[in-house]
Amino acid sequence: MDTRPKRVRIPHLLASKREGRKIAILTAYDYTMARLVDQAGVDAILVGDSLGNVMLGYDTTLPVTLEDMIHHGRAVRRGAQRALVIVDMPFGSYQAGVDQAVDNAVRLMKETGADAVKVEGGRPIVPAIRRMTEIGIPVMGHLGFTPQSVHQMGGYRVQGRSREDAEALLEDARAVEAAGAFALVLELIPPDLSAEVTRALTIPTIGIGAGPHRDGQVLVLQDMLGMFDDFQPKFVRRFAEVGSVIRGAVAQYVQDVAAGRFPAPEHTVGGARREEGSPS
Ligand code: KIV
Repeated sequence: MDTRPKRVRIPHLLASKREGRKIAILTAYDYTMARLVDQAGVDAILVGDSLGNVMLGYDTTLPVTLEDMIHHGRAVRRGAQRALVIVDMPFGSYQAGVDQAVDNAVRLMKETGADAVKVEGGRPIVPAIRRMTEIGIPVMGHLGFTPQSVHQMGGYRVQGRSREDAEALLEDARAVEAAGAFALVLELIPPDLSAEVTRALTIPTIGIGAGPHRDGQVLVLQDMLGMFDDFQPKFVRRFAEVGSVIRGAVAQYVQDVAAGRFPAPEHTVGGARREEGSPS
C-alpha cells in the first residue's frame, strides 16, 4: 500500500526528519518538467534562482528578478500536484529590510501559489525570516555557499572549513531555526559540519555538496539529467544523459526533414483534398 501523502506539506517534511526518512528535492522551472518531476515522486520542487544560470544563461543568479521568479513559479505550480513548491526570493528582494522581505514574499505567495519561499543567509536576515513566519509564510533557509553572495565569497568555494567559520555557520543555523524556518539548505560545506548542523537542529537539513549526513538532498534538475555543461559541480551525479538524447533526436529530425523522410504518410492529416462537387 502506498503510504505517501497525496499532497506533501511542511509537517510531512518535519516528520520525515523525526522518523529518519530522507527527503528528495529537485529544482524545476517550467510546467512540463515540474509535472515529470512531480509524477516521479519528489517530496518538494524548488523553483531556484539557479534558473538564472540554466534557463536564462546568466553567469550568476544576481540578475534574476522577482518577476522572473513569479513567471517560472506560476508555471511550476500548475505542473505540481503532489510535491511541496518552494520559490526562491531573488537577490535584492529581501536584504533591504523586514518590510521589503514581507512585501515581496507576499507577492511571491499570492502570484505563484507556492507553498513556501527560500532565502539565503544567516543572522543578518533573521528578523525578516521571523516576521515572514509570524505572518504565516513558510520559509526555508540556505547557508554555506550562498550563490547570491558569490562575489563576496570569492567564487564557488567550500564554506565552513575552519573551526571559526564552522562555529559561525552553526550559530547561523540555530538562529534561522529559532526564527521559524521549516528547513535549511546546506550548500558546499564539509560533511562533518553538515552532520553537526543536522544533529543540532530539529528542522530538516537539505544538502547540496554537503555529503551524506543530512536529512535530505537537492540538486539542480538540468545538472542531474546531464543537460547543462557550462560548469559541472563535483558533487553532482548525472542520473541520465538527456542532453545527448536531445541532440541525437534533433539531429535525426534535421536529417529526416532534409531527406524528405518526415513527415511520412502516417503523420499527414486530413487525407486528400476533395474536389468541389464530388460526393461526400
Ligand atoms: O537556486 C537553486 O537552485 C538553489 C539550490 C541549488 C539549493 O538554491
